[in-house]
Amino acid sequence: MGIRILGIGSYVPEKVLTNFDLEKMVDTSDEWIKTRTGIEQRRIAAAEQATSDLACGAAAKALEAAGIKAEELDAIIVASITVDQIFPSTACILQKKLGAKNAFCFDLEAACSGLLYALEVANSLLTANKKYKKILVIGAEKLSSIVDWEDRSTCVLFGDGAGALVLGKCRNTEENCIVASNLGSDGHYTDILQIPAGGSRLPASAETIANRQHYLAMAGSEVFKCAVTAMVHSCKKVLKEAGIAAEEVRWLVPHQANYRILRAVAGRLGIPETGVYMNVSRYGNTSAASIGLCLDEIARGGLAKPGDYLLLTAFGGGLTWASILLKW
Ligand code: UT7
Repeated sequence: MGIRILGIGSYVPEKVLTNFDLEKMVDTSDEWIKTRTGIEQRRIAAAEQATSDLACGAAAKALEAAGIKAEELDAIIVASITVDQIFPSTACILQKKLGAKNAFCFDLEAACSGLLYALEVANSLLTANKKYKKILVIGAEKLSSIVDWEDRSTCVLFGDGAGALVLGKCRNTEENCIVASNLGSDGHYTDILQIPAGGSRLPASAETIANRQHYLAMAGSEVFKCAVTAMVHSCKKVLKEAGIAAEEVRWLVPHQANYRILRAVAGRLGIPETGVYMNVSRYGNTSAASIGLCLDEIARGGLAKPGDYLLLTAFGGGLTWASILLKW
């Protein structure tokens, strides 16, 4: 027994914000952004769109690809750091939009590692309990709503989008898509990537607003170093657990943070650049959405064939990290 991917979908908002647009907003340049990050443009949601709307676009396509109705879902897990509101959960808001009346729904917060954490949870639920048959997992973000558009060191990096997977059971282990996984966290680094205010520690006040503490704050170069070390370590553990050599991996699908990070991770794993899936130039860093966006492009573009190994790896605030070896 195991699980398999029944359908994948993604959604990005229409509005494109290019590096040249950003040059008019902050003291930056297309040249700096491209050489330091690989990003050329990102998508920005409309003012009236919330994260659940982006998630709904991706979920509808994933359900269509799976050929199932929303009522067939047993659970919905939304991974996001930009939930519609603190509560109720964005998963419940999405449930109503989809009409998934038989699902139990919750949000999961593991920053950029969120989709992989959600996959691990869904895998455990499906394999441990026979009453759960179909689960929708989604990584969705409206990062434009938490980015400080006056801070050039962060605002050039992020974008909005959503990626969704419908997961179901399979009878024989041959079809099982999750071969191995490794998840980890290190709470010693909570302050290098965070939104300082707006929670119980520092509730919203005139002072927190004046101090711009409701925006994402990041110590970029520290995060960079931790990201490479953690993802490489985690990927190696997964490959070892699966008994798979790096050369056998068809695609390394890393969280799309910065092409320099992706290249460094691939280099240390001995995976050639042609084996690294990258769309960071088009979408920037979309946090929990990024791996879902990649997987949807791989699926719709026919870029992987049955039996191919895809090594998914992510890293984010918390700190959190996760790697999953998928058999396509
Ligand atoms: O999603 C998971 C979490 N996020 C990440 O994984 C992101 C990890 N970090 C990074 O990707 C990189 O650290 C950044 C892209 C954020 C920054 O690149 P860097 O090579 O580490 O640059 P830096 O922060 O060391 O800054 C170098 C210089 C600084 O100027 P000085 O002090 O050398 O004069 C910055 O002020 O670049 C300056 N700078 C900029 N210049 C033009 C920072 N942002 C910009 C900008 N445009 N947008």
